[in-house]
Amino acid sequence: MFSLDGKVALVTGSAKGIGRAVADVLEDHGALVFGSDIAPGEEKTGQGPLLQHDVTREEDWTRVFAQIAAQAGRLDILVNNAGIILNKPFLQTGLDELRNIQRINVESIWIGMQQAAPLMAEGGGGTIVNLSSIYGQLAGPMQAAYSATKGAVRMLTKGVAVEFARGGLGIRVNTVHPGPVETDLGLSGLTPAIAAGRFADLDAAKAFVAASFPMGRWANTGDVAGAVLFLASDASRFMTGTELTVDGGYSIL
Ligand SMILES: NC(=O)c1ccc[n+]([C@@H]2O[C@H](COP(=O)([O-])OP(=O)(O)OC[C@H]3O[C@@H](n4cnc5c(N)ncnc54)[C@H](O)[C@@H]3O)[C@@H](O)[C@H]2O)c1
Repeated sequence: MFSLDGKVALVTGSAKGIGRAVADVLEDHGALVFGSDIAPGEEKTGQGPLLQHDVTREEDWTRVFAQIAAQAGRLDILVNNAGIILNKPFLQTGLDELRNIQRINVESIWIGMQQAAPLMAEGGGGTIVNLSSIYGQLAGPMQAAYSATKGAVRMLTKGVAVEFARGGLGIRVNTVHPGPVETDLGLSGLTPAIAAGRFADLDAAKAFVAASFPMGRWANTGDVAGAVLFLASDASRFMTGTELTVDGGYSIL
């Protein structure tokens, strides 16, 4: 059920962090994986260099899907992973900053799902996994803008899941909701607290956060990639519009 042999996948934002781990795990399970990023760097996937792709740009999506169609002839899996965070108090956050994070975290997924659907449907269907966050389910200090976008991803996914299922497209759409993951993005949330003198250094801040999780540690990127693999594979074949939380038990307290 977890085999992805013969499947073709696109993982956005896969130059590093969670996207990198997801691309690796999908490839390990047999998929032909295309990776893309706004800053592709030297990283490679099974298909060679990462594709240059700013997920806020419709024309970039069109070019990336055209390239995948030309090289692989189909698309079975789309992982909308690219995203940013904004660790800032609500009263100090400008509307321009909200609009920027909204474009990168939400509008990108809107465009990606709209453009992926015809290519997936042509090949008999597919599965889309959208990266939300526990901040799409819960509140946190300095996360108002980020939460607004991740909550939007959660409900956008459910809305599209209904239409794709009822429309008989054979495309499932689900969200993954990680708690803090040890990546550049995940660790950036600690910077304001360290700057304010709440913690002596990064290690002290990391230990404090780890202790607040029932499982006692941060997630690593592989923890999240396993959940994405499940939703990308036939192991989740009767699941659509669902939300899978990967947070070491944080949200059950
Ligand atoms: N790390 C965490 O604690 C955590 C928790 C919950 C959810 N998430 C979500 O998981 C996803 C990945 O996070 P991460 O921790 O790996 O982040 P990261 O910062 O390590 O990596 C994000 C990648 O996305 C790329 N990216 C950013 N803007 C882009 C754009 N406009 N177009 C294309 N690529 C772009 C970056 O270049 C980078 O390679 C994000 O959607 C994030 O919100 C992360």
